[in-house]
Amino acid sequence: MKERIHEKFKALYGEGGRFFASAGRINLIGEHTDYNGGYVFPGAIDKGLMAEIKLNGSDKVRAFSLDYNEAAEFGLREEDAPAQAWARYIFGVCRETIKRGGKVEGFDTVFAGDVPLGAGLSSSAALESTFAFALNELFSNGIDKFELAKIGQSTEHNYCGVKCGIMDQFASIFGKKGSLIRLNCKTLEYKYFPFNPEGYKLVLVDSCVKHELASSAYNKRRESCENAAAAIRKNHPEVEFLSDAKRVWLEEVRAEIPEEDFLRAEYVIGEVQRVLDVCDALERGDYETVGEMMYQTHFGLSRLYEVSCEELDFLNKLARKMDVTGSRVMGGGFGGCTINLVKDELYKPFLDAVQKEFTAKFGHAPKIYDVVVSDGARELK
Ligand code: GLA
Repeated sequence: MKERIHEKFKALYGEGGRFFASAGRINLIGEHTDYNGGYVFPGAIDKGLMAEIKLNGSDKVRAFSLDYNEAAEFGLREEDAPAQAWARYIFGVCRETIKRGGKVEGFDTVFAGDVPLGAGLSSSAALESTFAFALNELFSNGIDKFELAKIGQSTEHNYCGVKCGIMDQFASIFGKKGSLIRLNCKTLEYKYFPFNPEGYKLVLVDSCVKHELASSAYNKRRESCENAAAAIRKNHPEVEFLSDAKRVWLEEVRAEIPEEDFLRAEYVIGEVQRVLDVCDALERGDYETVGEMMYQTHFGLSRLYEVSCEELDFLNKLARKMDVTGSRVMGGGFGGCTINLVKDELYKPFLDAVQKEFTAKFGHAPKIYDVVVSDGARELK
């Protein structure tokens, strides 16, 4: 990838760029908890994004996406937003850096990625984090790592229309080879957990379906949670986020809120507890419990939070049928991947069955990705 990028860079802008990279992410458990102030448990992966960048002495950014084989040029003022969706991420990162008092001037860049798009592995966070990290280095802005993650998150909010939480950008900035990271999204305390489950593999099965309107459905889920939290807060003022609420407190407001909001909140409150249970289980090396929690998460995401789909439910059911230790839809949902915790001896039979049965039912093959937990944003020397 580096050679391909450099070849294009040289042809367009000459020599002398610096290389930066960042990563997509997985999440072991803790889905849709981040914007509810709960825990998440992600890690960066070995699929990511790479960019060569050089300052150009002007007030313009010239960018080339190798994957789209497309160029974009834009200024750095608010009214200069480019038309291409991919370029808006870079523009957003520039603007959010400037809003935080950082310096940004014109630069040239060529970039490419290998995070599968629409698979729920956060290719967009990889893009944001690469540029947030790179601009901070190139202009010596001294912005701290959490703020770099927030630059990516605010880019999604203000320039891409997704009211996402902090998980994806956090993972792709803070990711560390071999470790998952448990983050408390309310206090922003985090802890690295070396993750090497002996005798098991983590594998992603990509349904290769991506549903339209995923971002408006995502924003709607978030609104439901905020509604439920606001109703509970009237009785329990200490509830800042939905993750602060107890199940019985939600029961108290059941009649006051739409059934849909109730179901969404029921899922979130359960999920917050499951992350803690998974951490305890990991400390004991009890992967059976970890897996069982993953199935419970899938059930909640499918029936209560309603962000699964037929293809993902099928993959989950097949995993259960084959005694796979844990399986669930991963990320925002509405298509994308399941994440599966599979015993070594079941790995091959499971993937064979997935290929055969999924293809027979849906007429297209799923894709399989082995998970390698890797480093997040960095400069490549
Ligand atoms: C998307 C969002 C994250 C998080 C997940 C669901 O990936 O970007 O902030 O909410 O969905 O856990």
